[in-house]
Amino acid sequence: MGSLQLKRVLITGAAGGLGRTLAKHFAAEGCELVLTDLHEEPLEATRTELSQSGTRCRAYVLDVTDDAAIQDVRRRVHEDLGAVDILVNNAGVVFGGPFLEVPLEQHRLTYRVNVEGVVAMTHAFLPDLMESSRGHLTFIASASGFIGLPNGSTYASSKWAVIGFAESIRAELKARGTRHVGVTTVCPTYIDTGMFTGAKPPKTAKMLDPDEIAKKIVEAVRKEQIWVLEPWIVKVTPFIKNCLPTKIADFVADAFGASSSMDQWQGHGS
Ligand SMILES: NC(=O)c1ccc[n+]([C@@H]2O[C@H](COP(=O)([O-])OP(=O)(O)OC[C@H]3O[C@@H](n4cnc5c(N)ncnc54)[C@H](O)[C@@H]3O)[C@@H](O)[C@H]2O)c1
Repeated sequence: MGSLQLKRVLITGAAGGLGRTLAKHFAAEGCELVLTDLHEEPLEATRTELSQSGTRCRAYVLDVTDDAAIQDVRRRVHEDLGAVDILVNNAGVVFGGPFLEVPLEQHRLTYRVNVEGVVAMTHAFLPDLMESSRGHLTFIASASGFIGLPNGSTYASSKWAVIGFAESIRAELKARGTRHVGVTTVCPTYIDTGMFTGAKPPKTAKMLDPDEIAKKIVEAVRKEQIWVLEPWIVKVTPFIKNCLPTKIADFVADAFGASSSMDQWQGHGS
């Protein structure tokens, strides 16, 4: 989409982690920020920091699982600033552990935030992007959206759903000739934000730096790149998973430590 100057970017889960880092990188490109998050205090801290550095930005407390709140925030954003050009579906949760030891409510919440929240936000804001001269949809999925993840079954499967949803929306926009709305799907391994504290990155990879990955995401939006697959091993994962016999793909996953990566997961609770 070329220059991002003056583009209005809405980010979900912008109070911390990757969302907050992305906000800073979009701000550095001259974007106007619409920050949203479930948690008011850190959200306000992010807004204050960005405002003080000269970025035009607003913050709205928003739970992406609350349809009425999404409609209310959309109305307020339109009144306060106007329609958005770029939506970054970033908010996400994970509850690691053996499937039967994680309460069912946490498995359900994973799907509500990571899948239903993404669908609801896209349903509410895609019309804005379509009205924009150049709009963009960004989905923060995960490398786990390409594989099975022991001790992260509902998290991984929620990201499989995000990838399938993003690909379907991209195909639908293309089929109806809506070429001015781009779609980027982001699939990284573990990022050093605290969400996956205790998890082990695959062999040959390290915990990714949030700044480095945010920089690549913003660049991908600017270039309307369809995928951000980081690090290199994620670029070959779909081939390994889909083209090799399953037993060999399982062997490779074990050899690279993907199957045991969540064994020591603690997350933000550590
Ligand atoms: N950290 C990683 O290793 C990693 C790897 C791959 C993908 N991701 C994805 O990147 C995205 C950001 O993750 P992160 O590492 O910054 O995590 P994080 O936990 O640091 O930040 C997530 C943010 O989402 C917000 N949030 C949670 N539930 C919400 C809800 N119902 N409504 C609105 N906001 C809500 C939280 O308040 C928080 O600010 C997530 O979608 C995650 O799945 C993370």
